[in-house]
Amino acid sequence: MAPVRALVFDAYGTLFDVHSVIAECEQHFPGRGANLSKQWRVTQLEYTWLRSLMGRYEDFEQVTAGALAHACASLKLTLSDATRAALMNSYLLLTPYSEVPAALDSLAPRKRAILSNGSPRMLDAVVRNAGLSERFDAVLSVDALRIYKPHPSVYQLAVDRLGVPIDEIAFVSSNFWDVSGATSFGFRTFWINRAGNVPDPLGFQPAAVLSGLDQLAGVLSPG
Ligand code: LAC
Repeated sequence: MAPVRALVFDAYGTLFDVHSVIAECEQHFPGRGANLSKQWRVTQLEYTWLRSLMGRYEDFEQVTAGALAHACASLKLTLSDATRAALMNSYLLLTPYSEVPAALDSLAPRKRAILSNGSPRMLDAVVRNAGLSERFDAVLSVDALRIYKPHPSVYQLAVDRLGVPIDEIAFVSSNFWDVSGATSFGFRTFWINRAGNVPDPLGFQPAAVLSGLDQLAGVLSPG
């Protein structure tokens, strides 16, 4: 098997804890934060798939705002303009999982990149606010293609932009549907399963299942 020369990471849920918005949600809707965060994320992902199937792209910021509005409405929470602004801003301040900075360091000198549904503005902000900018060779957004994961063209973007052959790239995600899409595309994949989730029976399996990013360097042959 070819050595891994580049690692491509999903952003939301893999590097950054999307549920770190719960604290801000709780400020505005006491006792409802966890529920709102969960509904918000599920709806956000659904909208990416619906828009891709319809051929009606809107960027991830618009999708995230629409999902927040629907999540609040479905939970019968009144979303003021000020609350919407505060919650949308919390998406730019997501907390990276604790092992992420050191794990990224341990993977050098291999190339390290993000490939995400996030808009360039959202990704730049969340990576910068987390102090991770120096650790990535590239931050790639689906916005260049105007279609969301798991469309194969999104994974091809990483191959094209990194200039590394497909069999020398490892793709890392905590989202099993994303692992499935990347495996179907042809990437060697690693599933970060921090929460003990059950894999989807879509017919694709990762090369390994890991409990955190800190496990990754140990399963790659020296690169
Ligand atoms: C992303 C979403 C899928 O970062 O988590 O692309």
